[in-house]
Amino acid sequence: MVLPRVILKKGIKRRIFNGHPWIYDNEISIFPECEDGALVDLFTSSGQFIGKGYYNSHSAIRIRLLTRKNENVDEHFFSRKIIKAYTLRNRFVKTTDAYRLVFGEADGLPGLIVDKYSDYFVLQINTLGMSKFRETIVGVLVRLFNPKGIYEKSEGNFLKLEGINPVSEWLHKTGPILIPFKMNEITFLADLRGQKTGFFLDQRYNAKLLSNYAHGRRVLDVFSYTGNFAIHMLKAGANSATLVDQSKRALEVAREVARINGIADRVEVFEGNAFDFLRAVKPGDYDMIIVDPPALVKNSRATEKALNAYKELNLRAIKNLKEGVLATSSCTQAIKEEEWERTIYEAFIDNKKLGLQLFAGSQPADHPVSSAIYETKYLKFRAFTVHKIADI
Ligand SMILES: C[S@@+](CC[C@H](N)C(=O)[O-])C[C@H]1O[C@@H](n2cnc3c(N)ncnc32)[C@H](O)[C@@H]1O
Repeated sequence: MVLPRVILKKGIKRRIFNGHPWIYDNEISIFPECEDGALVDLFTSSGQFIGKGYYNSHSAIRIRLLTRKNENVDEHFFSRKIIKAYTLRNRFVKTTDAYRLVFGEADGLPGLIVDKYSDYFVLQINTLGMSKFRETIVGVLVRLFNPKGIYEKSEGNFLKLEGINPVSEWLHKTGPILIPFKMNEITFLADLRGQKTGFFLDQRYNAKLLSNYAHGRRVLDVFSYTGNFAIHMLKAGANSATLVDQSKRALEVAREVARINGIADRVEVFEGNAFDFLRAVKPGDYDMIIVDPPALVKNSRATEKALNAYKELNLRAIKNLKEGVLATSSCTQAIKEEEWERTIYEAFIDNKKLGLQLFAGSQPADHPVSSAIYETKYLKFRAFTVHKIADI
């Protein structure tokens, strides 16, 4: 099929040739005449074919490349890409029946997330161009995996900029709104009325590792969502867990997860602002505090304010821990790991305390960081034991 052609400016090509799939508006010399969301062919200024992608004139990222081969983008194409993503995961995903099957750009399918929760798939489509392939993708998933149901949960203000409407509905068959699945031998629930695709699958390695330090502890899980961390800690022998979140629904689901796992008697929930809660805690009330706030900024221009918020949260948590474990995380892509880590160290210094690192964590391999796409790296995690300086 002959597609509209896009020609890059002279000299701008290294990042793109090295595997990055985004073409910005200021990198293009000849723009295509096409509808937003349409497929285009991309060429260098000297006429060399680079690949095919979809175009959106309303986005600073004008083109997202889907392939570097001169091939049709059709059912066969999506089938091949999804099988590739599945094969990669199948080698290492052993302790869970829920994982991210497709992680957008990192799997060569920009704008598409597919999470698997037991026998169900939940899709998130973030771009106009990818939304054009909705039916094809569903057809491929049905043919390859014959799932019990496929739900689309595409939400967020950024969709408006792309020119697409939010979607939250079953695309193939139907299923429960709370989908049960097993992870690290614990039953969890993905909430289709909740956040993201229903669960934060990206913290499961960190939660599992952290649970090695949970035995006998009184745990405070701040920004708990549906209790991923707290439930892991309780199942590993923590004495009690207090969950704090501003979402009433998330806490209700957390209670249900605790009930299913037979640990409801050790769970307490608090609906409210995490900053206020941490300010009010009496030092020594908890001996493991987990701090996992939402992404605090979306772009690199506003990082200072976000770093101040991280500092405040961690300062409070460290102050409240006489001894014990601080587990702290950031999913803000726009903040660099070193900057964030320095902020945590400063929070220790301001408290006149020391942290000894238990482990450093990141994203699991089903959310792969691509060596060519720094935007795929977002999750940062540290666990420390907390001490008075004089005690070490
Ligand atoms: C990154 S998610 C936490 C994920 C969770 N730790 C897990 O592993 O499933 C951030 C959570 O913070 C909550 N939240 C956002 N702002 C908050 C605030 N100011 N106070 C309390 N909770 C907040 C959101 O409702 C969301 O559940």
